[in-house]
Amino acid sequence: MPDLESKSLTSTLAPEGERPATSSQQWAPLQYSASIVFFALCYATMAVIAWATTCYLSFKPIGAKHYGVVVLYKKNDGYGSIGPKAYHQLYAQSEEWFRAARVLAAIVATLTIPVVTSVCARAAVAFHQRQRLTLRQTMTLANKAWIEPATWLRLVGAGITGRGNFASSFLIAAIFLNLLGGIIAPLQQLYLSTATIKTPTWPILMPQNIDLMDHFSKFASSFDFGETTALLRDRLASTGTATPQAQLWSRNMTCNSLLTLNLECVIAGGQYTFSNMSLLEDPFFAQLPSGFSTGLIRQFAPRINSTARRESITKDEFPQGCDALPGAFYVSYENISALNDFPGFTFEACMPANMSATPWRATRDRQDFSEVLYLAVNLTTAAGWEVQVPTGAYFTRITVNTSAGFFELPNYMNGGIAGPLLAEDPTVRAPGKCDLDCETQTYDDLSSKSRRATPSTNSNGTAFNATQNLENNVNKGPLLQTALALFGLGSFIDVRTRALQSNSFGMDNTTALQLYRSNQCTGGMVPFLPLLRDQIGQEQVGNPIDGCSHQLTSDPADSAHLEIMYYLSSFVYNRYDGFFGERITNAFSAAAFLANQAWLLSTSDGRLMVSYDLGTDLQVPLLSLTGIIVVSVLLGLFLLVLLSVAVYAWRTPTWTTTLDAFAMLRIGAAVGAPLRPTRDSDEAENERLLLFPRNGAAGVAALDQMPGWVGDASPAEGGGAVGQLALGTGRKIMGRGARLKYRCD
Ligand SMILES: *[C@@H]1O[C@H](CO)[C@@H](O)[C@H](O)[C@H]1NC(C)=O
Ligand SMILES: *[C@@H]1O[C@H](CO)[C@@H](O)[C@H](O)[C@H]1NC(C)=O
Ligand SMILES: *[C@@H]1O[C@H](CO)[C@@H](O)[C@H](O)[C@H]1NC(C)=O
Ligand SMILES: *[C@@H]1O[C@H](CO)[C@@H](O)[C@H](O)[C@H]1NC(C)=O
Ligand SMILES: *[C@@H]1O[C@H](CO)[C@@H](O)[C@H](O)[C@H]1NC(C)=O
Repeated sequence: MPDLESKSLTSTLAPEGERPATSSQQWAPLQYSASIVFFALCYATMAVIAWATTCYLSFKPIGAKHYGVVVLYKKNDGYGSIGPKAYHQLYAQSEEWFRAARVLAAIVATLTIPVVTSVCARAAVAFHQRQRLTLRQTMTLANKAWIEPATWLRLVGAGITGRGNFASSFLIAAIFLNLLGGIIAPLQQLYLSTATIKTPTWPILMPQNIDLMDHFSKFASSFDFGETTALLRDRLASTGTATPQAQLWSRNMTCNSLLTLNLECVIAGGQYTFSNMSLLEDPFFAQLPSGFSTGLIRQFAPRINSTARRESITKDEFPQGCDALPGAFYVSYENISALNDFPGFTFEACMPANMSATPWRATRDRQDFSEVLYLAVNLTTAAGWEVQVPTGAYFTRITVNTSAGFFELPNYMNGGIAGPLLAEDPTVRAPGKCDLDCETQTYDDLSSKSRRATPSTNSNGTAFNATQNLENNVNKGPLLQTALALFGLGSFIDVRTRALQSNSFGMDNTTALQLYRSNQCTGGMVPFLPLLRDQIGQEQVGNPIDGCSHQLTSDPADSAHLEIMYYLSSFVYNRYDGFFGERITNAFSAAAFLANQAWLLSTSDGRLMVSYDLGTDLQVPLLSLTGIIVVSVLLGLFLLVLLSVAVYAWRTPTWTTTLDAFAMLRIGAAVGAPLRPTRDSDEAENERLLLFPRNGAAGVAALDQMPGWVGDASPAEGGGAVGQLALGTGRKIMGRGARLKYRCD
């Protein structure tokens, strides 16, 4: 036990370690404390692991090869249907790593100041043995004043007033080390953000989508019994301008009703309609529902867009002798029983090109073609008839341009926006096209079968012979299909006219009268008329055959007559925008859309595969390169200094582990004798150090005069292996060459 009675300088400053039992020769070794190096190393390891893991995860996941999807058919990184290797689990593991790194970083941030302080506290002892500090400087270090904000202010004040007698270079270094350690965690948070990305789960394959090529394959039928035309006719009857079209795609339509009340959006619940196709940006038909996203996989699908144009022409511009043109589509209808006192009509429709040749080409590249239809409508009225149709002769040319090809379906890579119409077949596997993240979509048979088209024997003007052959052709263009559905065999006008000619209405005068009186819906929907409605789908005012058509007069023959006239008038005049409005043009564009839809989907043998994978969310760290560099440099510097200080503390043998209260008590005891009040001391300065009520050590000049360091007071030579500690005298106790045993008399 320390001999407190003796109050000798040396005994109080004896090393704390174990002592030999013999009291005659009391000595103890100096301390080497390696534990602080161990703690500092643990701390540094955790800090490095947390930061390095975060940096690594910002580039690539742990376990998997990369974020995002790279699907190669043969070497597909484990994704897809071939040789999967529990792909999703790898990403989930990577996310666990990220969570662990964040927890570790939080622990490191919490430990920073305690670790720096305890390393500094150990090193302070070594420093105080090597430097000739004053007692005040030693006290400041013993107080661990570097973590006190008050000390920082005093240092600033000392810089101004020059009274920094409490400061030592170690104190300033310790403050900087604390600042450096403290700034790293905030900087990490400043540069680090997280992002949620999608990672692959499993591709879901839809194998039987229809490809343009499927209409040219050896499996496709080469004969159409008129089903496509009949289907289109029914769709034309049942589709209105406000009917939502799931397969109508568009780049975008502003549906923000806050800015403008967009009735199309309101009515169709955000889906596109035919209400005004010129308002849609790049409208087109594709088989999958509009906006269908393939998620992480890039996939392509066929698309068809058709635009109609309508012009008024003169009689001379109408093709002459269309009925004799080889391969032309030509029909004519007239009111043959027209008497002078009865309203009459004549109607001709002509597509003068060789319509038995298909406009479609067997390719997945972009294709464009154009079709032209001429209409001649002549309506007359007679005295005594109140017919609400415009009379006169009208000649119209309808042009429908069609483009078809492939487009990229919406996915995460293109921001969920459908890609543009592509010039070339995208399913060809070639560098720069679809080499990485596409999943195979086609069987590679581009063996284009040229399709047989039944040669059209030319007509004599009636629908029957003229259109039957054309209907039987496969791969008709959209305008020809529309013309066949509207004016061909079995069309509304064909059936009504033939009933007129043969007087076969299927009902007697009594039944007709009954139906007329009851206004009963017996005529069904008339094709094309719903497409001529206004933008919000209201039925055409004053056109009695729009909506459900019914008996218009008590005489079935008269009624059929009038129905045809109303029907024909709707191709030249619209109640909403007159003769030259865009409703009729819009209706032909919509009809072409429906025709493309009917045609593309008319084969049951789709062989285009579309895969999708919407993926799952994964949190990943986002770090800028600047952030990585700045934080890594600061962290490296900090850890390097911290470890050096710890090693410095470890390599210096010290008389006490830290400058704790016990150490200061012993120094105080050693200083005790000179501080005793003496009668002859000129000033009673020293007296103030004793247990005298005072607030702080400032102003006690004795503290600046008295030494605060501990040295080896034994003689330089011949002192033997055992040294003697003393306050403020002797040699500095350095790490190497220091005596390891110190005596205590
Ligand atoms: C359709 O849109 C076009 C172009 O914005 C516009 O000129 C036309 O009036 C619109 N049609 C209707 C019926 O609103
Ligand atoms: C019309 O096209 C078909 C099919 O390509 C062809 O066989 C026929 O000879 C063509 N007719 C004329 C008049 O060009
Ligand atoms: C179809 O869309 C493409 C791409 O937007 C466009 O270039 C082309 O002119 C359109 N074709 C028709 C007939 O509207
Ligand atoms: C159709 O053409 C055939 C000859 O090809 C002819 O005998 C028949 O009368 C025509 N039918 C009509 C309704 O014109
Ligand atoms: C129906 O009435 C018309 C005149 O309104 C007449 O000519 C015709 O003979 C009548 N038909 C029958 C079956 O009674």
